[in-house]
Amino acid sequence: MSNDTTPAGAAPMQGHGAYNRRSAVQASGASPALPLLEDAAREVAVPAGEGPVVIVDYGCSEGRNSLLPMAAAIGALRRRIGSAREISVVHTDLPGNDFASLFELLASDPESYLRNDAATFPSAVGRSFYAQILPASSVTLGWSAWAVQWLSRIPAPIPDHVQVACSRDSAAREAFAWQAAEDWATFLACRGRELHPGGKLVVLTMARTDEGDFGYRALLAAMYDTLRALVADGVVRAEEAARMAIPTVGRTRAEFSAPFSGAAFAGLTLERLDMLDGEDGIWDDFARDGDAQAFGSRWAGFASASVLPTLARDLAGGAEDARAATFIARMEAGMAARLAAAPEPMLIPLAALVLARAADRG
Ligand SMILES: C[S@@+](CC[C@H](N)C(=O)[O-])C[C@H]1O[C@@H](n2cnc3c(N)ncnc32)[C@H](O)[C@@H]1O
Repeated sequence: MSNDTTPAGAAPMQGHGAYNRRSAVQASGASPALPLLEDAAREVAVPAGEGPVVIVDYGCSEGRNSLLPMAAAIGALRRRIGSAREISVVHTDLPGNDFASLFELLASDPESYLRNDAATFPSAVGRSFYAQILPASSVTLGWSAWAVQWLSRIPAPIPDHVQVACSRDSAAREAFAWQAAEDWATFLACRGRELHPGGKLVVLTMARTDEGDFGYRALLAAMYDTLRALVADGVVRAEEAARMAIPTVGRTRAEFSAPFSGAAFAGLTLERLDMLDGEDGIWDDFARDGDAQAFGSRWAGFASASVLPTLARDLAGGAEDARAATFIARMEAGMAARLAAAPEPMLIPLAALVLARAADRG
């Protein structure tokens, strides 16, 4: 239930490999951050001694989109530390995440970073990254893609939409802005403790443009219109729909920078902050082939794999409600049809950040 008395953050992404199959938007959105991760791996202070070098992937989901960044980071580190020194790759996500799909992928996928590297060891942590989840000063290099836009909780109901960026309700907007600031500071403080002196963390996340635009206009309109249609059809009760809210935010350049205000925060400095316009491959394909059905179903699939399980949690019976699968299928179909009826390019505001912990603890 996502009202203000029983707060909750993200529900697990769609499981059984569904997120892995339907996250191409995230994969292309993260690509501009890969060179930043490789640079960080080249520059990061490697701990003295012979112990493992620790790379952490915060918010991994089922891991498909972690393969490339982890391989890039490992490759850059291997050029510095050789093939014998052990590397530990820790994938973290919420407890309900489908970690089984992640480990099957690592074992079998041709792009797995485990291929041809006997000295790299993957493991997982199923805990929220809004707490310290790894031993202090143990992490050499961190990566987090498309994850810290998820808040730790829904801070207030959104009376007129499911996404606060589309709401005109000032109480909801203020509550989400407050929670976004709080969660960003908590995330940084926890990573500041976990990073080794001289360690670095690269973050790619959803953002808002300098004009305050969260993007995804047509997608979010299709989502809310479909939800209202399902209420009219009696598939969803009005009070269930009223509870539904997606606890994600896009932060602005100023909001990302706020904790630093010209200085270090929690032992971290903000080395780089790039505001990006994500590549819209779905629109590019539509512009090439004119296939409106594919345009609609691919964007609806993106929503279905990432946020529709969070809305389904607010059905009366929670995630186990007998209507959950139907709800998600009807939402996806309704969104696909609406999007196919009027294809338009999607604005995808993103931010890439590089954070570093000072070499000597201050
Ligand atoms: C959209 S997926 C991103 C997966 C992958 N990193 C990528 O780039 O495609 C977001 C992931 O962040 C996770 N997540 C959300 N809130 C979290 C939290 N508080 N702690 C850990 N993981 C969280 C979700 O469970 C989900 O698996």
